[in-house]
Order: sequence, then structure tokens, then C-alpha cells
Amino acid sequence: MTTIQIDRRLPEEFFATALRADALAGLTATPKSLPPKWFYDERGSELFDKITLLDEYYPTRAEREILAAAAGQIAAQTGAATLAELGSGSGDKTRLLLDALAAAGTLRRYVPVDVSEAALAVAATRMTERYQDLAVHAVLSDFTAHLGLPGDPGRRLVVFLGGTIGNLLPAERAEFLARVRAELRSGDALLLGTDLVKDPAVLVAAYDDAAGVTAEFNKNMLRVLNAELGADFDVDQFEHVAVWNAEAEWIEMRLRSLADQTIHVPGIDRTVRFAAGEEMRTEISAKFRREGLAAELAAAGLAMRSWWTDAGGRFGLSLSVPA
Ligand code: SAH
Ligand code: AVI
Repeated sequence: MTTIQIDRRLPEEFFATALRADALAGLTATPKSLPPKWFYDERGSELFDKITLLDEYYPTRAEREILAAAAGQIAAQTGAATLAELGSGSGDKTRLLLDALAAAGTLRRYVPVDVSEAALAVAATRMTERYQDLAVHAVLSDFTAHLGLPGDPGRRLVVFLGGTIGNLLPAERAEFLARVRAELRSGDALLLGTDLVKDPAVLVAAYDDAAGVTAEFNKNMLRVLNAELGADFDVDQFEHVAVWNAEAEWIEMRLRSLADQTIHVPGIDRTVRFAAGEEMRTEISAKFRREGLAAELAAAGLAMRSWWTDAGGRFGLSLSVPA
């Protein structure tokens, strides 16, 4: 029998406290910025799933291609009983890994960890429907604060797909990898998906699609501020911007104010001014090179054991173990 357990590791009033702190810091800073985790209410998670189907957004297809080819090797190398997935989203590609671990006969438990309750519900339901005898232990958590890894016996494979690690700033990334390392035991492994540096035109198109889905996803953060903090952002008074930062090697998403405007944000007891043309950063999406990534992993005490890319060399998947 398949069972589902949900573990809530978000503090009470998460939106009222953590979002308020981020909004206060980010909307009063120069330049303004907000962390990308606030995209993902129910609508934001649905919009992300739509992005993954866009012609221009290649990372999901490229990573699926790698997983389809490498899942058997990953299962053989890890022998994992528990697959813990950080930022699982709807867990679509994860089925390739679960299939391989189930076929190898080692799989016992799936632990999706996400800040979005809506995404967790989709992932947990999907997996319980597909796998007999799989224990699903969903964890509602902010992985920048609490990884939510279970202390289960048996080997654990921690997976972090989609290139979401690229949404952390470099210092946050280093801290995050060190925390993952500190929680891994001998026999555990980390499977990490990373988008790779490539032609900027391809990258910018992936983050500024013709149908405008990414623009809606970006503006969804303003809707979240309206819903959670009572703000009065008019989303039509902002435009979506995606630029390639060649020095930092990341895509930066911003919202550009189309007019001089004053926004009331009762949840933080502030009015916030935007000048016409002023831009607020909402996300970075860092792109990687194999050597640089191996060095970052090593600095966190992780040794890269395997590396796969799709045939087009657009996306990388690495398997690392405690050094
Ligand atoms: N892994 C999936 C989904 C990627 S979208 C894929 O590869 O397609 C990024 C996911 O990470 C979303 O589901 C979002 O809710 C989650 N997420 C973003 N920031 C998070 C955080 N700080 N803590 C936990 N989950 C987070
Ligand atoms: C979740 N993350 C890896 C996506 C990315 O590509 O950085 C989020 C995203 N932002 C715009 N499109 C997709």
C-alpha cells in the first residue's frame, strides 16, 4: 500500500513573516530586488509548468533527455532506498529516476521537498498513483532554511533538478551546498541539474518567450505581494525584462516600472516609490561550466563522480558523493 505523509517545516505564518522580511528589505533597497521563491504560489507553480512546455525553454527537455539515458546508471551507482527531491515541483522528470530505482529493487521512499503546497500535492499524488508500496513523505519547507531530509536508514539520493541551484546567489549557493554536504552520510549522493553557459541569444529567448508566459510568471510575484501583503501593484504598469549578465554568467529577470508610481504595501507598513524605467530584480538563473561546478562542489566537500549532458551539450547532470 502506498502511503502519504506531509511534514510542515515552514514556520507558522511563513508568508506573513518571511515574505514580510524579504519585502521590507528588498523594496527599500537600492536597487530593489526580491528572492525568486516568492513566484511559487499555486498560479506561479502552474505558470512554471507551462514554461517547461515552451519551445524556447529547452532546460526541461534537455534534462529529461539526460535522465532517460542515465537513470539506470544512477540507480546502479547509488542503490538508493530514499529519493529526496529538493524543489520537486510537480515531479514530472523524477519518474524516470523512481522507475529506475524501483526496477533495481532498492526504492522504498520518495521525499519531495518544496515551498509550494500546490506543487507538493501534485508530486505526492502522482507518485502514489504510479508506485505500489512507495512511502511518500512530502515536506513543505524552504530549503534555504531547512533541507527537510529524512534520517531514514538506507542510502539516500538527494536530487535537485531543473537548474534551480542557479536561482541562488553565489554565496547562498556555497552555503546551500555546504549544508547538503553536512547532512549527507557515507553511501548517500547528490544528483544536481545545472544549466550550462551557451549562446546568449538562446538563453535570453528561454527567459523571454514569444507567448509571454515567462512575463506572466515574473509578474506573478507582484500578485503574490498583493495577495499576501495587501499591496496595490498594478501588474500592467510593469514590464518583464530578461538580460544576460556575461560577467556573472547568469540570466537576470527584472520587472521594469513603466511609470513613476507609488505602491502601498500595508503588510510592511510602507509606501514604495518606483521611478519610470526603474528595475527590480526578481531572479538570477546562473549558468554553469563543468570545471567551475566541480570546484564549487569540492569547496563544499563533495566529489563529482559522474557527469552527463544532453546531446546538444545544453544542460549538465552531476552525481557527487561526500569527499
Ligand atoms: N524540479 C522541478 C521544478 C523546478 S521549479 C523541475 O525541474 O522542473 C522550482 C521549484 O522549487 C518550485 O516548485 C518552487 O516552489 C521550488 N522552490 C523555489 N525556491 C524554494 C525554496 N527556497 N525552498 C523550497 N522550494 C523552493
Ligand atoms: C526553477 N528555475 C530553475 C527556473 C530557471 O530557469 O531559472 C525558473 C524560471 N525562471 C524563468 N523561467 C524559468
